[in-house]
Amino acid sequence: MTALTLDEFRARFPILRSRVYVNSCSQGALSLEVEAALAAFTDSWRARGSPWEDWVGEVERLRALFAASVGAAADEIAVMPNASTAIAAIATALPFDTDRRTVVLGDFEFPTMTHVWLAQQRRGARIARVAPQGETLPVESYAAHIDERTLIVPATHVCFRNGYRLDIEHLVDIAHASGAYAMLDDYQRTGTYPLDVHSLGVDFMVAGSLKYLLGPSGVAFLYVRRDLIERLEPLVTGWFGRVNPFAFNIDALDWSASARRFETGSPPIPVAYAAAAGIELLQSLGLPAIKTQIDRLATRFLEAVAARGFDMKTSADPAQRGPLVVLKSTDAAALAAKLEGHGIIASARGDGLRVSFHAYNNEEDVDAVLAALEKESALICRAESR
Ligand SMILES: Cc1ncc(COP(=O)(O)O)c(C=O)c1O
Repeated sequence: MTALTLDEFRARFPILRSRVYVNSCSQGALSLEVEAALAAFTDSWRARGSPWEDWVGEVERLRALFAASVGAAADEIAVMPNASTAIAAIATALPFDTDRRTVVLGDFEFPTMTHVWLAQQRRGARIARVAPQGETLPVESYAAHIDERTLIVPATHVCFRNGYRLDIEHLVDIAHASGAYAMLDDYQRTGTYPLDVHSLGVDFMVAGSLKYLLGPSGVAFLYVRRDLIERLEPLVTGWFGRVNPFAFNIDALDWSASARRFETGSPPIPVAYAAAAGIELLQSLGLPAIKTQIDRLATRFLEAVAARGFDMKTSADPAQRGPLVVLKSTDAAALAAKLEGHGIIASARGDGLRVSFHAYNNEEDVDAVLAALEKESALICRAESR
Protein backbone atom coordinates (compact mmCIF):
# COMPACT_ATOMS: atom_id res chain seq x y z
CA MET A 1 0.00 0.00 0.00
CA THR A 2 1.25 3.50 -0.79
CA ALA A 3 2.12 6.00 1.94
CA LEU A 4 -0.87 7.99 3.22
CA THR A 5 -1.15 11.39 4.85
CA LEU A 6 -3.04 11.66 8.14
CA ASP A 7 -6.09 13.03 6.33
CA GLU A 8 -6.01 10.25 3.72
CA PHE A 9 -5.66 7.69 6.51
CA ARG A 10 -8.65 9.19 8.37
CA ALA A 11 -10.74 9.03 5.19
CA ARG A 12 -10.41 5.22 5.17
CA PHE A 13 -12.75 4.96 8.21
CA PRO A 14 -16.41 5.65 7.26
CA ILE A 15 -17.64 5.87 10.87
CA LEU A 16 -15.62 9.07 11.35
CA ARG A 17 -17.93 10.90 8.97
CA SER A 18 -20.84 10.57 11.37
CA ARG A 19 -19.30 9.90 14.80
CA VAL A 20 -16.45 10.99 17.00
CA TYR A 21 -14.85 7.62 17.65
CA VAL A 22 -12.55 7.51 20.68
CA ASN A 23 -12.98 3.89 21.71
CA SER A 24 -10.01 2.13 20.08
CA CYS A 25 -9.13 0.76 23.52
CA SER A 26 -12.19 -1.45 23.06
CA GLN A 27 -12.37 -1.97 19.29
CA GLY A 28 -10.57 -0.21 16.46
CA ALA A 29 -12.76 1.52 13.85
CA LEU A 30 -13.61 -0.40 10.68
CA SER A 31 -11.69 0.70 7.60
CA LEU A 32 -12.59 0.24 3.94
CA GLU A 33 -9.55 -2.03 3.61
CA VAL A 34 -10.58 -4.38 6.42
CA GLU A 35 -14.13 -4.53 5.11
CA ALA A 36 -12.81 -5.40 1.65
CA ALA A 37 -10.54 -8.08 3.10
CA LEU A 38 -13.49 -9.76 4.82
CA ALA A 39 -15.31 -9.69 1.49
CA ALA A 40 -12.24 -11.18 -0.24
CA PHE A 41 -12.47 -14.16 2.09
CA THR A 42 -16.17 -14.73 1.43
CA ASP A 43 -15.59 -14.27 -2.31
CA SER A 44 -12.90 -16.97 -2.27
CA TRP A 45 -15.22 -19.28 -0.33
CA ARG A 46 -18.18 -18.63 -2.64
CA ALA A 47 -16.21 -18.93 -5.88
CA ARG A 48 -13.73 -21.67 -5.06
CA GLY A 49 -15.30 -23.68 -2.26
CA SER A 50 -12.30 -24.77 -0.25
CA PRO A 51 -9.05 -23.10 -1.33
CA TRP A 52 -7.25 -24.23 1.83
CA GLU A 53 -3.79 -23.55 0.46
CA ASP A 54 -4.64 -19.92 -0.15
CA TRP A 55 -6.34 -19.64 3.22
CA VAL A 56 -3.43 -21.10 5.16
CA GLY A 57 -1.15 -18.90 3.06
CA GLU A 58 -3.08 -15.83 4.27
CA VAL A 59 -2.47 -16.87 7.88
CA GLU A 60 1.26 -17.12 7.10
CA ARG A 61 1.16 -13.68 5.48
CA LEU A 62 -0.49 -12.31 8.62
CA ARG A 63 2.14 -13.96 10.82
CA ALA A 64 4.93 -12.32 8.80
CA LEU A 65 3.20 -8.92 8.77
CA PHE A 66 2.69 -8.90 12.53
CA ALA A 67 6.22 -10.19 13.18
CA ALA A 68 7.73 -7.40 11.08
CA SER A 69 5.61 -4.80 12.90
CA VAL A 70 7.07 -5.76 16.30
CA GLY A 71 10.63 -6.54 15.22
CA ALA A 72 10.27 -10.33 15.54
CA ALA A 73 10.90 -13.15 13.07
CA ALA A 74 7.84 -14.94 11.70
CA ASP A 75 8.83 -18.22 13.34
CA GLU A 76 8.74 -16.54 16.77
CA ILE A 77 5.02 -15.72 16.37
CA ALA A 78 2.01 -17.95 17.00
CA VAL A 79 -1.33 -16.86 15.54
CA MET A 80 -3.92 -17.45 18.25
CA PRO A 81 -7.70 -16.91 18.55
CA ASN A 82 -7.35 -14.56 21.56
CA ALA A 83 -4.89 -13.38 24.19
CA SER A 84 -6.28 -15.77 26.80
CA THR A 85 -5.26 -18.86 24.83
CA ALA A 86 -1.88 -17.29 24.07
CA ILE A 87 -1.18 -16.70 27.77
CA ALA A 88 -2.51 -20.17 28.63
CA ALA A 89 -0.19 -21.80 26.07
CA ILE A 90 2.80 -20.45 28.00
CA ALA A 91 1.31 -20.95 31.47
CA THR A 92 0.58 -24.62 30.78
CA ALA A 93 4.06 -25.16 29.32
CA LEU A 94 5.82 -23.95 32.47
CA PRO A 95 6.58 -26.25 35.41
CA PHE A 96 5.42 -25.36 38.93
CA ASP A 97 7.11 -28.21 40.80
CA THR A 98 10.30 -26.47 41.90
CA ASP A 99 11.02 -23.67 44.38
CA ARG A 100 10.88 -21.23 41.49
CA ARG A 101 7.11 -21.21 41.05
CA THR A 102 5.86 -17.73 41.96
CA VAL A 103 3.92 -15.67 39.44
CA VAL A 104 4.10 -11.94 40.26
CA LEU A 105 0.97 -10.11 39.10
CA GLY A 106 0.11 -6.43 39.39
CA ASP A 107 -3.38 -5.11 40.10
CA PHE A 108 -3.58 -3.34 36.73
CA GLU A 109 -3.80 -6.54 34.69
CA PHE A 110 -6.70 -7.29 32.39
CA PRO A 111 -8.72 -10.00 34.23
CA THR A 112 -7.86 -12.73 31.76
CA MET A 113 -4.18 -12.41 32.69
CA THR A 114 -4.84 -13.14 36.35
CA HIS A 115 -7.43 -15.84 35.58
CA VAL A 116 -4.99 -17.94 33.55
CA TRP A 117 -2.28 -17.81 36.23
CA LEU A 118 -4.70 -18.29 39.14
CA ALA A 119 -5.83 -21.50 37.41
CA GLN A 120 -2.21 -22.73 37.54
CA GLN A 121 -2.38 -22.83 41.36
CA ARG A 122 -3.82 -26.33 40.92
CA ARG A 123 -0.50 -27.24 39.27
CA GLY A 124 1.55 -25.72 42.10
CA ALA A 125 1.83 -22.06 41.10
CA ARG A 126 2.20 -19.50 43.89
CA ILE A 127 0.70 -16.08 43.18
CA ALA A 128 2.14 -12.81 44.52
CA ARG A 129 0.08 -9.66 44.04
CA VAL A 130 1.54 -6.20 43.55
CA ALA A 131 -0.71 -3.44 44.93
CA PRO A 132 -0.93 -0.08 43.16
CA GLN A 133 -0.20 3.33 44.64
CA GLY A 134 -3.37 5.15 43.70
CA GLU A 135 -3.56 5.16 39.91
CA THR A 136 0.12 4.21 39.47
CA LEU A 137 2.03 0.96 39.73
CA PRO A 138 5.71 1.85 40.04
CA VAL A 139 8.21 -0.84 39.08
CA GLU A 140 9.68 -0.52 42.59
CA SER A 141 6.45 -2.08 43.91
CA TYR A 142 7.10 -5.10 41.69
CA ALA A 143 10.74 -5.26 42.78
CA ALA A 144 9.70 -5.93 46.38
CA HIS A 145 7.97 -9.17 45.24
CA ILE A 146 10.51 -10.49 42.70
CA ASP A 147 13.19 -12.88 43.98
CA GLU A 148 14.85 -16.21 43.23
CA ARG A 149 11.49 -17.97 43.70
CA THR A 150 9.85 -15.94 40.92
CA LEU A 151 9.15 -17.93 37.77
CA ILE A 152 7.48 -15.25 35.67
CA VAL A 153 6.31 -11.65 35.78
CA PRO A 154 3.38 -11.12 33.39
CA ALA A 155 2.57 -7.42 33.03
CA THR A 156 0.29 -5.21 31.01
CA HIS A 157 1.99 -2.29 29.32
CA VAL A 158 -1.04 0.03 29.50
CA CYS A 159 -3.82 -0.57 32.02
CA PHE A 160 -7.25 -0.96 30.41
CA ARG A 161 -8.96 0.79 33.36
CA ASN A 162 -6.88 3.91 33.95
CA GLY A 163 -4.41 4.16 31.05
CA TYR A 164 -1.34 3.88 33.31
CA ARG A 165 1.75 2.89 31.33
CA LEU A 166 4.18 0.68 33.14
CA ASP A 167 7.94 1.12 32.79
CA ILE A 168 8.23 -2.25 31.08
CA GLU A 169 11.90 -1.84 30.13
CA HIS A 170 12.83 -1.50 33.78
CA LEU A 171 10.54 -4.34 34.85
CA VAL A 172 12.11 -6.71 32.29
CA ASP A 173 15.55 -5.92 33.76
CA ILE A 174 14.36 -6.59 37.31
CA ALA A 175 12.70 -9.89 36.35
CA HIS A 176 15.78 -11.07 34.46
CA ALA A 177 18.15 -10.05 37.24
CA SER A 178 16.30 -12.55 39.46
CA GLY A 179 16.30 -15.23 36.76
CA ALA A 180 12.54 -14.85 36.11
CA TYR A 181 10.75 -14.62 32.78
CA ALA A 182 9.03 -11.42 31.68
CA MET A 183 5.74 -11.60 29.76
CA LEU A 184 4.29 -8.45 28.23
CA ASP A 185 0.59 -7.97 27.56
CA ASP A 186 0.79 -5.25 24.93
CA TYR A 187 -2.83 -5.44 23.84
CA GLN A 188 -3.50 -1.83 24.87
CA ARG A 189 -0.47 -0.43 23.04
CA THR A 190 0.62 -2.52 20.03
CA GLY A 191 -0.26 -0.64 16.87
CA THR A 192 0.34 2.79 18.41
CA TYR A 193 4.15 2.93 18.61
CA PRO A 194 7.29 1.41 17.11
CA LEU A 195 8.13 -1.72 19.10
CA ASP A 196 11.14 -4.00 18.82
CA VAL A 197 10.57 -7.05 21.00
CA HIS A 198 14.16 -8.19 20.64
CA SER A 199 15.65 -4.98 22.00
CA LEU A 200 12.95 -4.79 24.69
CA GLY A 201 14.17 -8.24 25.72
CA VAL A 202 10.83 -9.72 26.85
CA ASP A 203 10.57 -13.50 26.83
CA PHE A 204 6.92 -13.58 25.81
CA MET A 205 4.47 -11.04 24.47
CA VAL A 206 0.77 -11.14 23.66
CA ALA A 207 -1.23 -8.68 21.59
CA GLY A 208 -4.41 -8.84 19.57
CA SER A 209 -5.88 -7.55 16.36
CA LEU A 210 -9.09 -5.91 17.43
CA LYS A 211 -8.00 -2.68 19.08
CA TYR A 212 -5.16 -0.53 17.74
CA LEU A 213 -4.21 -3.06 15.04
CA LEU A 214 -7.55 -2.20 13.41
CA GLY A 215 -8.77 -5.75 12.84
CA PRO A 216 -11.70 -7.77 14.15
CA SER A 217 -11.93 -10.08 17.17
CA GLY A 218 -10.75 -13.65 16.67
CA VAL A 219 -7.03 -13.09 16.10
CA ALA A 220 -4.28 -12.57 18.66
CA PHE A 221 -0.53 -13.06 18.60
CA LEU A 222 1.99 -14.74 20.86
CA TYR A 223 5.68 -13.88 20.59
CA VAL A 224 8.11 -16.34 22.17
CA ARG A 225 11.84 -15.63 22.42
CA ARG A 226 13.48 -17.97 19.95
CA ASP A 227 15.72 -19.90 22.37
CA LEU A 228 12.72 -20.67 24.61
CA ILE A 229 10.46 -22.08 21.90
CA GLU A 230 11.85 -25.59 21.80
CA ARG A 231 11.98 -25.83 25.61
CA LEU A 232 8.23 -25.36 26.01
CA GLU A 233 5.40 -27.81 25.33
CA PRO A 234 1.89 -26.51 26.11
CA LEU A 235 -0.75 -28.79 27.67
CA VAL A 236 -3.38 -27.60 25.21
CA THR A 237 -2.39 -28.59 21.69
CA GLY A 238 -3.69 -29.97 18.40
CA TRP A 239 -2.77 -30.75 14.82
CA PHE A 240 -1.59 -27.22 13.96
CA GLY A 241 1.08 -27.51 16.67
CA ARG A 242 2.75 -30.40 14.86
CA VAL A 243 5.85 -30.41 12.62
CA ASN A 244 3.59 -31.00 9.62
CA PRO A 245 -0.12 -30.58 10.36
CA PHE A 246 -0.96 -32.17 7.03
CA ALA A 247 0.85 -35.43 7.84
CA PHE A 248 -2.38 -36.50 9.59
CA ASN A 249 -0.44 -38.85 11.85
CA ILE A 250 -2.58 -39.88 14.83
CA ASP A 251 0.34 -41.26 16.86
CA ALA A 252 3.15 -38.73 16.55
CA LEU A 253 3.04 -35.88 19.08
CA ASP A 254 5.95 -34.07 17.45
CA TRP A 255 6.33 -30.35 18.12
CA SER A 256 6.88 -27.70 15.51
CA ALA A 257 10.30 -26.12 15.96
CA SER A 258 8.70 -22.68 15.53
CA ALA A 259 6.22 -20.79 17.72
CA ARG A 260 3.53 -22.56 15.71
CA ARG A 261 3.84 -25.28 18.38
CA PHE A 262 1.66 -23.04 20.62
CA GLU A 263 -1.23 -23.13 18.13
CA THR A 264 -3.95 -25.75 18.32
CA GLY A 265 -6.53 -26.37 15.59
CA SER A 266 -7.88 -24.80 12.39
CA PRO A 267 -6.66 -21.21 12.14
CA PRO A 268 -9.01 -18.18 12.23
CA ILE A 269 -9.02 -17.71 8.45
CA PRO A 270 -11.75 -15.09 7.79
CA VAL A 271 -10.40 -12.79 10.46
CA ALA A 272 -6.81 -13.45 9.36
CA TYR A 273 -7.71 -11.77 6.06
CA ALA A 274 -9.08 -8.78 7.95
CA ALA A 275 -6.29 -8.61 10.52
CA ALA A 276 -3.66 -8.55 7.76
CA ALA A 277 -5.47 -5.65 6.08
CA GLY A 278 -5.51 -3.73 9.37
CA ILE A 279 -1.76 -4.09 9.85
CA GLU A 280 -1.08 -3.11 6.24
CA LEU A 281 -3.18 0.00 6.68
CA LEU A 282 -1.12 0.95 9.74
CA GLN A 283 2.02 0.48 7.66
CA SER A 284 0.76 2.98 5.12
CA LEU A 285 1.16 5.65 7.80
CA GLY A 286 4.02 4.08 9.72
CA LEU A 287 4.23 3.49 13.46
CA PRO A 288 6.46 6.53 14.22
CA ALA A 289 3.92 8.87 12.61
CA ILE A 290 1.07 7.08 14.38
CA LYS A 291 2.78 7.54 17.74
CA THR A 292 3.42 11.23 17.08
CA GLN A 293 -0.22 11.87 16.18
CA ILE A 294 -1.56 9.97 19.21
CA ASP A 295 0.84 11.79 21.56
CA ARG A 296 -0.21 15.12 20.11
CA LEU A 297 -3.92 14.40 20.59
CA ALA A 298 -3.52 12.94 24.10
CA THR A 299 -1.44 15.95 25.18
CA ARG A 300 -3.99 18.39 23.75
CA PHE A 301 -6.78 16.56 25.57
CA LEU A 302 -4.95 16.25 28.90
CA GLU A 303 -3.95 19.90 28.95
CA ALA A 304 -7.48 21.05 28.20
CA VAL A 305 -8.98 18.71 30.76
CA ALA A 306 -6.51 19.89 33.43
CA ALA A 307 -7.38 23.51 32.63
CA ARG A 308 -11.05 22.69 33.29
CA GLY A 309 -10.20 21.11 36.66
CA PHE A 310 -11.48 17.63 35.73
CA ASP A 311 -10.00 14.74 37.69
CA MET A 312 -7.86 12.45 35.56
CA LYS A 313 -7.04 8.85 36.36
CA THR A 314 -4.28 8.93 33.73
CA SER A 315 -1.03 10.73 34.43
CA ALA A 316 -0.15 13.79 32.34
CA ASP A 317 3.45 12.50 32.24
CA PRO A 318 4.00 11.17 28.68
CA ALA A 319 6.22 8.40 30.09
CA GLN A 320 3.27 7.07 32.09
CA ARG A 321 0.59 7.03 29.44
CA GLY A 322 -0.18 5.55 26.04
CA PRO A 323 -3.15 6.07 23.71
CA LEU A 324 -5.76 5.74 26.49
CA VAL A 325 -6.75 8.67 28.69
CA VAL A 326 -9.26 8.13 31.53
CA LEU A 327 -11.36 10.69 33.42
CA LYS A 328 -12.81 10.08 36.86
CA SER A 329 -16.59 10.22 36.84
CA THR A 330 -19.33 10.03 39.45
CA ASP A 331 -21.15 7.70 37.01
CA ALA A 332 -18.95 6.72 34.08
CA ALA A 333 -21.56 4.50 32.41
CA ALA A 334 -24.08 7.35 32.45
CA LEU A 335 -21.44 9.75 31.13
CA ALA A 336 -20.57 7.40 28.24
CA ALA A 337 -24.30 7.16 27.42
CA LYS A 338 -24.63 10.97 27.48
CA LEU A 339 -21.63 11.31 25.17
CA GLU A 340 -23.25 8.90 22.75
CA GLY A 341 -26.12 11.37 22.58
CA HIS A 342 -23.54 13.94 21.39
CA GLY A 343 -22.32 11.52 18.68
CA ILE A 344 -19.25 10.48 20.65
CA ILE A 345 -18.33 6.85 21.18
CA ALA A 346 -16.21 6.32 24.31
CA SER A 347 -16.50 3.68 27.03
CA ALA A 348 -16.72 3.26 30.80
CA ARG A 349 -14.87 0.97 33.19
CA GLY A 350 -15.60 1.35 36.89
CA ASP A 351 -15.37 5.04 37.79
CA GLY A 352 -13.45 5.88 34.63
CA LEU A 353 -14.57 7.29 31.30
CA ARG A 354 -12.14 5.96 28.69
CA VAL A 355 -11.14 8.21 25.81
CA SER A 356 -8.61 6.57 23.53
CA PHE A 357 -6.89 8.04 20.53
CA HIS A 358 -5.69 6.54 17.29
CA ALA A 359 -4.02 8.16 14.32
CA TYR A 360 -7.41 8.41 12.59
CA ASN A 361 -8.49 10.93 15.21
CA ASN A 362 -7.76 14.62 14.79
CA GLU A 363 -7.86 17.88 16.74
CA GLU A 364 -11.55 18.40 15.94
CA ASP A 365 -12.33 15.07 17.59
CA VAL A 366 -10.50 16.19 20.73
CA ASP A 367 -12.35 19.49 20.78
CA ALA A 368 -15.71 17.78 20.19
CA VAL A 369 -15.12 15.47 23.16
CA LEU A 370 -14.09 18.44 25.33
CA ALA A 371 -17.19 20.42 24.33
CA ALA A 372 -19.45 17.49 25.17
CA LEU A 373 -17.67 16.91 28.50
CA GLU A 374 -18.26 20.53 29.43
CA LYS A 375 -21.97 20.06 28.80
CA GLU A 376 -22.00 16.93 30.96
CA SER A 377 -19.55 18.18 33.58
CA ALA A 378 -21.96 17.37 36.42
CA LEU A 379 -20.90 13.73 35.95
CA ILE A 380 -17.15 14.45 36.12
CA CYS A 381 -15.15 14.52 39.36
CA ARG A 382 -13.13 17.66 40.11
CA ALA A 383 -9.38 17.43 40.64
CA GLU A 384 -9.70 19.27 44.01
CA SER A 385 -12.12 16.64 45.31
CA ARG A 386 -9.33 14.04 45.61
C1 LIG B 1 -4.75 -5.59 28.29
C2 LIG B 1 -5.69 -6.58 27.65
N1 LIG B 1 -5.32 -7.86 27.52
C3 LIG B 1 -6.14 -8.76 26.94
C4 LIG B 1 -7.37 -8.40 26.44
C5 LIG B 1 -8.28 -9.39 25.76
O1 LIG B 1 -7.98 -10.73 25.97
P1 LIG B 1 -8.66 -11.81 25.02
O2 LIG B 1 -8.08 -11.67 23.65
O3 LIG B 1 -8.34 -13.12 25.64
O4 LIG B 1 -10.14 -11.54 25.01
C6 LIG B 1 -7.78 -7.08 26.56
C7 LIG B 1 -9.12 -6.70 26.03
O5 LIG B 1 -9.74 -5.79 26.36
C8 LIG B 1 -6.93 -6.16 27.18
O6 LIG B 1 -7.30 -4.87 27.30
